[in-house]
Order: sequence, then structure tokens, then C-alpha cells
Amino acid sequence: MSLHHHPASPIMDHCPTTLPARAYHDPDWYAREQRTIWARNWVVAGRLNDLKPGTMKRLQVGSASVILCRAPDGALSAFHNVCRHRGAELCSHDEQPMGKLVTCRYHAFAYAAKDGRLVATGHAHPSDDFRKEDHGLLKVAVKLWAGFVFVNLSEAPGEIAPDMGRDYLKNWPMDDLVTGHRMVKDLACNWKVFWENYNECLHCPGVHPELCDMVPIYGTGIMGDNERPDWTPEEPLRSPLKEGAATWTASGKACGPAFPDLTPEERQNGYNFVTVYPTMFVVAHVDYVRAVFLEPTGPETTRLTAEWYFSQETLDQPGFDAAEVAAFAKIVMAQDCEVAELNQRGLRSPAYDRGRLMPEEYAIRDFHQWVLDQMKEEGA
Ligand code: FES
Ligand SMILES: [Fe+2]
Repeated sequence: MSLHHHPASPIMDHCPTTLPARAYHDPDWYAREQRTIWARNWVVAGRLNDLKPGTMKRLQVGSASVILCRAPDGALSAFHNVCRHRGAELCSHDEQPMGKLVTCRYHAFAYAAKDGRLVATGHAHPSDDFRKEDHGLLKVAVKLWAGFVFVNLSEAPGEIAPDMGRDYLKNWPMDDLVTGHRMVKDLACNWKVFWENYNECLHCPGVHPELCDMVPIYGTGIMGDNERPDWTPEEPLRSPLKEGAATWTASGKACGPAFPDLTPEERQNGYNFVTVYPTMFVVAHVDYVRAVFLEPTGPETTRLTAEWYFSQETLDQPGFDAAEVAAFAKIVMAQDCEVAELNQRGLRSPAYDRGRLMPEEYAIRDFHQWVLDQMKEEGA
């Protein structure tokens, strides 16, 4: 028997089916996602602040290797990591210093970092039928949002579209924040398993005791007041954090001065989530910001990178330890990663075809719909 929720509640009145099990391990399904989802959307490439001028960074975007170049004058550009001569890889390191040129190590073809123009062909003397202007590096689109660098393999990319809107973090000094802590973890699960876990709290009571202590409503298996059966839109907003807590740290106390421009509501929320599918989410608190990046590394493996950003003022406090602040979310992420891998192992069962979503899993239904819409191929 279903409970009766207010019509404005997001809770579903039915239990839709999940994606089929093969969506989580079939190499063909994965290859199709690479061609569609990961080749058409903006993919995060890290913080602009963490890419010093005069640096080239190598990234994997879907099935493509990409170089992100920050020229000595600070200009940003991105190209496919392949030389136009005979196809050698241009950058073979995660990061390396660079000047104004990108030079291929094989036969020394040199390209302008700013626009990819072919400027020199090493010891080769091309005949007249070879036009240098036709053999520049293959460009990849680059854009900035909230201090993050994004790249997009599409030839006609749209705007970066965070679920809460592009202005959602405007009251946080995003461009100036400094990375104080980073964690990289390789997970044995499909990337979608991670997002599904992110999109529901039915697992919270059993999996996240520390988080449920901090956010009491999570302890009831829901993500917010509007999921309660007795909720109405007229109900005043209240802080979801436990009494006396202001942020997600072990003590609940802010780790430094609060960001000065936040609205009372942003402060009261305690945590403000914004998601950019399929690549990352950000959680903005009164005192620090955390971002999590996902990179599929195979049908059943995903690399997770989590970063913690602080104002310089907070980092400069005597005795400040960013790792101590990060510890709270790390406990929660370790719990999520463990159940994501548990989920993945079960999805391999030959006896499992697909399951049913519960009414509380409306955000997973939306995610599945997004995935299926994205995977439509022209001519398919
Ligand atoms: S393959 Fe790059 S210069 Fe020959
Ligand atoms: Fe979780």
C-alpha cells in the first residue's frame, strides 16, 4: 500500500523497472555510452588553479586521449593527443611542462599551443601538395565554469548545464578557492552504479551511521523534507543538519571563516549539491567546497577523484589540517564505494535481469531516463 504524498512531492506513485543488468557490464553497451554520453557532454578536467601556466595535461575523455594546454601566458586550449603526421601520441605523461609549441617527439612536427597550427615539420621538406594549414592539431572544445575546466569532444557543444543552474555557486568565491586535499580511488563498479547510489538515501540508515547522525532525515531513508508523506509546500524550510552543526566536519563546526556572500538559506542548508552529469558533483558548505569527478575506465571500473577546496585564509590558519576536514566525507565515500562494488558484483549474476525502483528512487529514474535519451545515436 502506498503512502499519500502531496502532489508537489517528488516521490513516485509507481515502481518503474531499472536498466537491464547488461548496462553495467556489457562491452557493447559501454562502447555506445563512450560514443554518445562521454563524447557529447562536457567532461571535467580539474581546477584552473591547479593547472599552472606552462603546463600540458593529458586526459582520457571517453575513448579519446586529449591534451589540455595552458600556455605560458595562461591561455587554455585542448586537442586530441595525436600528431597529424603519422599519428604518434603527443603527450605521454599525466602532466608535463610546455612552452609555446607542442612538439611531437617522433619527427619533431611542431604546433602552436594556442591554436594548434602546424608551424614546423622538423627535418621533413613537404612538397607543394602538402598545405600546413590543413594539418593543424585536432581541436577539442574547452570551457570554464565555477573555477573548473571542462572539455567536450563534440564539434558543436552546448553550454555546461549544471542541474541547479549555472549561477548556483555564484555566492561562493569559486575561482579563488585553493585545493587543500585530494583523494583518487579506483572502483570496481560501472560509473552508473556510483550515480545511482548518489541519487537515493534508502541505503543511508544501513550504510552511513555518521552521516545519518549529522543529517537526521537521512536516517529515515529520504533525502529531504519534501519526501515526507505529511510534507506540504507551505512548510517553512529548516536546516537538515543536527542541532548545533553548521557543516560537514566531524564536529559539525566550520573549519574556518564562513564565505561572506552566502544567503541565509545557503548557510542554513548546511550542504548545497550541484551535479553536472555525467562527470561530477559539487557540495558547497559554509566553510569549504568538495567536488567529486568520475571517469569510467572500463565497463566495470571507474576512477573517482575527490577534491576539497578552501579559501587561502582558512588554509593559513595556524595548525589547520585539510585532511582532518576531509576525513568526514571520506568515511561516507568509503561506505558508498563499498556498496557500489557490492552492487556491481551482484549485477554479474546470470540469474538477474533487472529490478524495480522504489517510489523514493525518483532521482534514479530521472538519471536512467537521461542515460537512455543520451544514448540515442543518429541513424540507430
Ligand atoms: S608522427 Fe609526429 S612528427 Fe611524425
Ligand atoms: Fe551514500
